[in-house]
Amino acid sequence: MSAVLQQAPAQTLKITKVKDHIGAIVTGIDLAKPVDAATQKRLYDAVVENVVLVIRGQAHLTPAQVQAAGELFGELMEDQNRRYLVDGHPLISVLDNFAKASDGAPAKVGNNATWHTDHTNQERPPKFTMLYAVAVPDKGGATSVCNSRAAYEALPDDLRAKITPMKTENTLISSARFKISNPDILKEQLASKKPPTVQPLVRTHPDTGKKAVWFHKSKTEKIIGMTPEETQDFLQDLTDRCTQPQFCYAHEYQVGDLLILDDRQSLHKAGFDYDHSQHRLLYRMLVRGDRPQ
Ligand SMILES: [Fe+2]
Repeated sequence: MSAVLQQAPAQTLKITKVKDHIGAIVTGIDLAKPVDAATQKRLYDAVVENVVLVIRGQAHLTPAQVQAAGELFGELMEDQNRRYLVDGHPLISVLDNFAKASDGAPAKVGNNATWHTDHTNQERPPKFTMLYAVAVPDKGGATSVCNSRAAYEALPDDLRAKITPMKTENTLISSARFKISNPDILKEQLASKKPPTVQPLVRTHPDTGKKAVWFHKSKTEKIIGMTPEETQDFLQDLTDRCTQPQFCYAHEYQVGDLLILDDRQSLHKAGFDYDHSQHRLLYRMLVRGDRPQ
């Protein structure tokens, strides 16, 4: 933690809600300067309340300062995709549309265009995913986030009761998705002898005690009691329900935005809808989370 006392401009910090269910924009803070404990808590609480928070105007940060900003939200963990990292900063991975995979094809890193929450195949997946915009296209390339707690609460009673006790088996990539995977990820998957990680389909947020729908469809081998194919269809239906417009916010980046999303109560996806001859480069950091319950 880099909490240090004596930050004068706490009173200039402004947090503006984007819409009822999701999103808030923060201005009036310079993350290159020390952040006091009260401000740090305000930011943390704002992420939990609004599911996604965007801190604007941080384009001047060095990678070390970006990392320190990330550490305000907890202990950083390594990304499971470790092929693209910021030099000298192994806890910052790079999502770069100009990167190439080992076969020379575009790497597709950071282009997960299906709704998901991160790293569900890990026993302790991240609690927060943070994205810092280094280069952005003129338009498009948004990160979309939905509030899967509000979506859970809005489900029909019978469906909510049905899914609440369900468990998922998570792997690097589900067999139902094999055909369309990145060759590097596929190689890793085939080399792995790890048994699937069992997770709740509905998890309880450790800070609020509220439940949220929580899954990564491409990493879900199956919902226990269903076949892999049934699982994909079931999760698609659930995705459609969770990602209705009132639950979602699509953030189109400005350079210097730091986006923080609460993975415990959201799904997110990357936008492909931009001119791919333009550079889109985001730094990504993950904050270690608890065992989902
Ligand atoms: Fe993601």
